[in-house]
Amino acid sequence: MKNMNKEFEQVFENYKQDIRQNLKRYLSVRKPENLWKSMYYTVSAKSKLLRPVMALECCRLCSGSYEPAMPSACAIEMLHSQSLIHDDLPCMDNDDYRRGQLSNHKVFGEAVAVLAGDALLSYGPQIIIEHTPQDIDRLAIVHKYVQTAGAFGLVGGQVADIEAEETEINTDELNYIHEHKTARLFEFAVYAGAVCGKATPEQTKAFLVYAQKMGLAFQISDDILDIIATKEEIGKTPGKDILSGKKTYPHIYGIEESKKRTLELCEEASNILNVNNFDSLILEGILNIIRTRIEKNK
Ligand code: IPE
Ligand code: IPE
Ligand code: MG
Ligand code: MG
Ligand code: MG
Repeated sequence: MKNMNKEFEQVFENYKQDIRQNLKRYLSVRKPENLWKSMYYTVSAKSKLLRPVMALECCRLCSGSYEPAMPSACAIEMLHSQSLIHDDLPCMDNDDYRRGQLSNHKVFGEAVAVLAGDALLSYGPQIIIEHTPQDIDRLAIVHKYVQTAGAFGLVGGQVADIEAEETEINTDELNYIHEHKTARLFEFAVYAGAVCGKATPEQTKAFLVYAQKMGLAFQISDDILDIIATKEEIGKTPGKDILSGKKTYPHIYGIEESKKRTLELCEEASNILNVNNFDSLILEGILNIIRTRIEKNK
């Protein structure tokens, strides 16, 4: 983050503070207390909040205000947090450490962690429906949410990711995994922002292409960091992908080629913003975060 300009950091931080406050409100503790504590434990931990910030920014770019997208932004972070809680379970990636603290199941036990994930997953659409202004097409947002979360999206990608541990895969299969387990969530974020900002079909399409490229670049950068970063830097256990036989860009193409591909994808995503006249410090800055992540240890 060091070399990023001050203005970007300030705007980004303002968005994050607003998102954190709203998440806190939505996830205030009630009965059963342990469940709500478990839900908030992972949601409130130190994280980048890229997806909700993207949703707010797309809404602001189209309508001048980001407020209408806040419920969707919070729902996205809940869905994302759910995917992380489940991803860390012993039956999946088996990671004891997440967002700089013990994984959810390490603190609350596997049963509550699974159920906290289920609860976050289903709370997202509830928040969108109950809190999004009524003149916004909430059905379209919730439709995309469930497509993103389930077998057509994240869950499909996660199953393919785990099955690929036991076999070699080709580029198409690798891209299927990345697009489904990772990029779809970024696509949902920009889509929700677009709907809340009443974007034109052209604007929505452009955001989606940006998110698809950015999402792919982001997963490749995550897979590079698994190899080159420390636990303190990423807040989770590095070196796990090779041990578990994960099929990643670095695994198949090596680190240098993966870095090159990451930068190419960021460039393509940046071009989409330019061609469509989106003057967005945030969407450009997020690409810079990805670029900086992989360059850091060079
Ligand atoms: C982690 O996402 C999961 C991947 C898609 C690689 P982030 O790196 O955005 O995690 P947080 O939200 O900042 O913890
Ligand atoms: C991220 O995949 C996709 C998810 C749906 C969580 P990873 O398994 O690489 O994510 P991390 O490295 O555990 O954050
Ligand atoms: Mg995983
Ligand atoms: Mg994992
Ligand atoms: Mg990873």
